[in-house]
Amino acid sequence: MFILGIETSCDETAAAVLTDQPLRILSNVIASQNEVHEPYGGIVPELASRRHMEKILPVIQEALDKAQIKLSDLEGIAVTVMPGLVGSLLVGLQVAKGMAATLGIPFVGVSHLEGHLQAPLLEHPEVSYPFMALLVSGGHTLLYHVKEFAKYELIGGTRDDAAGEAFDKVAKILGLGYPGGPLIDKLAHQGNPKAIKFPKGKIKDHPFDFSFSGLKTAVANYVKKIEGGITPSLLADLCASFQETVVDDLIGKTVLAAKEKGIKTIIVSGGVACNSRLRAKLPEAFFPSPLLCTDNAAMIAAVGYHSLKKGKTSPWSLNAMANQDVRFC
Ligand code: KG4
Ligand code: ZN
Repeated sequence: MFILGIETSCDETAAAVLTDQPLRILSNVIASQNEVHEPYGGIVPELASRRHMEKILPVIQEALDKAQIKLSDLEGIAVTVMPGLVGSLLVGLQVAKGMAATLGIPFVGVSHLEGHLQAPLLEHPEVSYPFMALLVSGGHTLLYHVKEFAKYELIGGTRDDAAGEAFDKVAKILGLGYPGGPLIDKLAHQGNPKAIKFPKGKIKDHPFDFSFSGLKTAVANYVKKIEGGITPSLLADLCASFQETVVDDLIGKTVLAAKEKGIKTIIVSGGVACNSRLRAKLPEAFFPSPLLCTDNAAMIAAVGYHSLKKGKTSPWSLNAMANQDVRFC
């Protein structure tokens, strides 16, 4: 079976082809829009939609070429339908519908979050259910007890900023570029993670919930009080100390939740799972390779594959949704 995945929920135009027995990636093409949004310090929705329009067909063609298959070989199409920027989602969704209708094959709308949860399994087939999943991206910080495919129990989540959002906002405060996560990660290598003590966000009576806005404010207040500009060594210490606070908080709550539920396997996914300090301090967890941590279509195709196998398809009336009830991922 050959299945095409399409992902356009945010600022990456992506397409991938998977085959089965065993389930594996034949191609995974990603056209990043970072250079489009970088000058604005964040994503500009209309520019994102327009870039998707330009890139979507060439990206799909490249995915088919790299997989060395023809359009007529496809047996199913999976496309991200939520959550995300509606104008961006609609580009991928409409292309998926058009292709499925023309080829006479089923299509299925997929949750981007569920995609992130499947990503580590593509490279680690030894991972078995149940597992504890920490999903840390630019839009979400969620902790799930994953009982089996499509059976998720939400254990905790952020009350304000997502972990990736905190990295991006702190990078902006420090005068770094966008996206901030990789830049902070890099600079932190030269810094002392214990140089500055920042507060961890605690939510009373909710031990597995996260809060990063207080930390962001603490960094902003610290920077305001610096006289004579930030030296390179102070910048590195700020990055390392901020990163250490986030990483320790993420790991502490995830490990505690796994222990409490009696679960031995932990997976980490989403853009922040690229973070080198998080990977180093949680060696027992399964992380996707960086290309599968950030937004990609292989993870969408993987969810689509399992859904189609279970006989799930979507109607032509399916529409894009900006938000998603994260209790049901
Ligand atoms: O999963 P993703 O590609 O898109 C969303 O669904 O949000 O995640 C993007 C986020 C951005 O906030 C980016 O700053 C963060 O992941 N990120 C990182 C690193 N690489 C990407 N955060 C910390 N350390 C990194 N190395
Ligand atoms: Zn994502």
